[in-house]
Amino acid sequence: MRIAMIGCGYVGLVSGACFADFGHRVACVDKDANRVKSLIGGIMPIYEPDLEALVARNSGEGRLAFTTELAEAVRSADAVFIAVGTPSRRGDGHADLSYVYNSAREIAAALDGFTVVITKSTVPVGTGDEVERIIRETRPDADFAVVSNPEFLREGSAIRDFKHPDRIVVGTDDARAKEVLAEVYRPLYLNAAPILYVERRTAELIKYSANAFLATKITFINEIAELCEKVGADVQDVARGIGLDNRIGSKFLHAGPGFGGSCFPKDAVALIKTAQDNDAPLRIVETVVAVNDTRKRAMARKVVAALGGAVRGKSIALLGLTFKPNTDDMREAPSIPLITALQDLGAKVRAYDPEGMDQARLVLSNVTYCDGPYDCAEGADALVVVTEWEQFRALDIERLKKVMAKPVLVDLRNVYRADFMQENGFSYVGVGRVASRAPRHDWSQAQPEDQRFPPASAERDRILS
Ligand SMILES: NC(=O)c1ccc[n+]([C@@H]2O[C@H](COP(=O)([O-])OP(=O)(O)OC[C@H]3O[C@@H](n4cnc5c(N)ncnc54)[C@H](O)[C@@H]3O)[C@@H](O)[C@H]2O)c1
Repeated sequence: MRIAMIGCGYVGLVSGACFADFGHRVACVDKDANRVKSLIGGIMPIYEPDLEALVARNSGEGRLAFTTELAEAVRSADAVFIAVGTPSRRGDGHADLSYVYNSAREIAAALDGFTVVITKSTVPVGTGDEVERIIRETRPDADFAVVSNPEFLREGSAIRDFKHPDRIVVGTDDARAKEVLAEVYRPLYLNAAPILYVERRTAELIKYSANAFLATKITFINEIAELCEKVGADVQDVARGIGLDNRIGSKFLHAGPGFGGSCFPKDAVALIKTAQDNDAPLRIVETVVAVNDTRKRAMARKVVAALGGAVRGKSIALLGLTFKPNTDDMREAPSIPLITALQDLGAKVRAYDPEGMDQARLVLSNVTYCDGPYDCAEGADALVVVTEWEQFRALDIERLKKVMAKPVLVDLRNVYRADFMQENGFSYVGVGRVASRAPRHDWSQAQPEDQRFPPASAERDRILS
């Protein structure tokens, strides 16, 4: 298949490179000439693990090319994917579809022979109808079909997610389009990834519903975490206790500083707007967005409380700025409202992030950016773990204590154990855990009388023997 991928961002670039890796010939188009130039030179405009090598291999073998010339790429393509941004529209929160519609116009002008135009961008219900109308208006003679094929990859594990998806959703009732999409995704179909063929509007709604549901799950456990703190329970044990129920599942039940990123916040709001416009309000999702918004800034209060009620003039060190590990994406990162709130209260903020500091500099000012976690902790009155990068999971606690002004750890991702940190002389605050309570039950130390609710499998066998 010959594929044109419009937009070389987190989705377009990864999808384009993966399609090329399947053996298709892919032209990735972006209107940002600098981005294209750096991609041609082998420099990735975003950080995504293993992407550089994947791009280098497929470019080197002649299956993957980068260009600003949309018309040329579209003219020879069997399938044209639209993977441009759909940010929140200023003022009302609806998805800004101008990039999608502009690319639809440009695509229309270049169509040559039967072509399938596929929206991979996350777009509200009915956008496919409008894309179809725009193309038909621009080129009444064109032979084409418009399909919705939402993308579910996650930044940080995007290549793996793209190559091993839980499902592929294809929204169309056009038989020729189905054939093309089946061929495009054939390598994954061989991996037994289910393809779900649905009506186009349904496909569009599946993507928003999935994101809204996941955002709801995160927000639910965050509220339970608040309750845990008030009543002296441990949210991680609650999450495990409910997550082992197959109907609930253990994923997305990690309490933290609130969801961020380039998708959940804007998609939840856009879905709410669509629902309101159609007189079918989604009260649960509305509440999720409201709760999450207040939570991010409320994390600053946690830090203030850990420092005894005031942070004016204090030095606070933040580890992790991106909205999650293994990406450089700062869009809607919880670190942003946290830092601005701390600065508003008079704190001096130091920060370190393995990949996100270039992006962070564009959105956060008056922050001292550091060379590593220990440099960041130097002279700090508190250390705050905001994003759980691997390299923050096993810090040298003694070294931290030596360089910090005060041994205070605010762990917004529950990476460390409260009892361990306290034994090592730290004042510790986690999320949804009461710092002073007894250590969590450790089954590896269990005595025979502890076996009323034994853990599963090998560990249980070991204890019983
Ligand atoms: N980032 C994610 O994890 C993720 C996951 C699933 C779905 N999505 C959705 O995918 C879409 C793209 O997201 P992203 O994060 O890749 O965006 P992005 O902002 O990283 O990239 C978009 C790219 O499109 C380019 N572009 C815009 N208009 C263009 C045009 N007319 N012609 C050529 N290029 C154009 C921009 O220059 C930019 O490089 C969004 O709708 C998003 O909601 C994102």
